[in-house]
Amino acid sequence: MERRKLSGPSDIRKSKGLLDRYALMERVEATVQPDVLITNIGELVTLSPLARASRASHVNPDDLGIVKNAWLQIKNSKVEKYGTGPAPALPQGAILSNARCGLVMPGLIDCHTHPVFAGSRSNEFCMRLDGKTYQEIAEAGGGIKSSMMATRAANEADLLGETLARLSVFLGHGVTSVEVKSGYGLSVDSELKLLRVLRAADKKTPQHLTVTCLALHAVPPEHHSAASWAREAAEKLLPQVAREKLADCVDAFVENGYFSADDARSYLDAAKKLGLRIRLHADEFSESGCAKLAAEYGAESADHLQHASDSGIAAMRTADVVAVLLPGTSLYSGIPYTNARRFIDAGCAVAVATDFNPGSCVADNLPMIATLAALHCKLKPAEALVAVTYAAAYALRLHHHKGALHPGYDADFLVQPMATHEDWLADLGRSRPSQVWIKGQRFL
Ligand code: NIG
Ligand code: FE
Repeated sequence: MERRKLSGPSDIRKSKGLLDRYALMERVEATVQPDVLITNIGELVTLSPLARASRASHVNPDDLGIVKNAWLQIKNSKVEKYGTGPAPALPQGAILSNARCGLVMPGLIDCHTHPVFAGSRSNEFCMRLDGKTYQEIAEAGGGIKSSMMATRAANEADLLGETLARLSVFLGHGVTSVEVKSGYGLSVDSELKLLRVLRAADKKTPQHLTVTCLALHAVPPEHHSAASWAREAAEKLLPQVAREKLADCVDAFVENGYFSADDARSYLDAAKKLGLRIRLHADEFSESGCAKLAAEYGAESADHLQHASDSGIAAMRTADVVAVLLPGTSLYSGIPYTNARRFIDAGCAVAVATDFNPGSCVADNLPMIATLAALHCKLKPAEALVAVTYAAAYALRLHHHKGALHPGYDADFLVQPMATHEDWLADLGRSRPSQVWIKGQRFL
């Protein structure tokens, strides 16, 4: 199959400047943060009711905790308090920022991305236009393995540069926390390389990163079976990942032609023993029993879920597994959208993420994906907003300090150039935030 050259040069050049800028940010972080007062807020979305109840399910419009004509005060990188009417006096040395009657909301959280890869798969996009399916493209030598070849050949510095450049685009859309997966190395050494790149990116980017080892993404060419790679990953890769603290979570693509639930067990058992948390690519193309597997292993989230069974959804609800919907993949790959109502009606928390990756979904605009989820996964406005903030924090178990603008929470927030959250959702990701703050520090 013809493969294009690495897509990097311009991204890498861009990221060189970024590295310098991020080095500057690290220095700022070392000093004490000044207090901040944001005034003249038209609509402040706090999500305080959810934070107070530590609940991401059964979301209703009151859960948005909206305050009109508001102000927001930040102290020591955290939300100190908020209110309506005249703002309090500016504390000495504090930074004052005017929201110009705009919307202020929690920073967005993208809880499912694949940002570390090399190469381009635009040829596969063209094959899809010719009517080929994701599986047919994979069988013809494309898909995950095509990215694996390019990624194995790339060095750590280039991968880091490209990853940082991608994260900076996420930041421009208002994404202040990101879950980032490996999965294009698919050997012990190459997966370790990608995880080291992600840990290095974590030190350089202002965003909070949750790092996930997705060793079971596809069966590498060196292995004759899925079970044999799963065993090697369990016995050789995961212990090293845990020793070097290279990842927070593990993930597996449980799907026909990739890994069965049984193939994944040795790997998930090893992960649990090593204290690595679990998330799963579940029931995307067919019902593979993965929603139930996620519940059985106490996974934090099960993602995709187009074909989850009713009993699988009930099991997810009981085990508090968050349903992560990825409508960008449906749009880009022409597969069905997941119906959020099945999960919401069963009492599951529902989050939405981009699934940004080089093959099945190149979308990195999370606000656009939230609108897509409202339109096609049938989320109501409050549910869609919560799906990319508090519920996404819950999916990553960050919800005790991120995903809401509640006293004591990290001051990760956006000032938007529109008046209300309905304006934001109807905008299809067209407008960028006019201010992006992470832990009380302004980055855009
Ligand atoms: O989440 N489903 C598996 N993994 C990705 C696709 C990755 C790829 O095609 O490179 C996904 O959609
Ligand atoms: Fe994915």
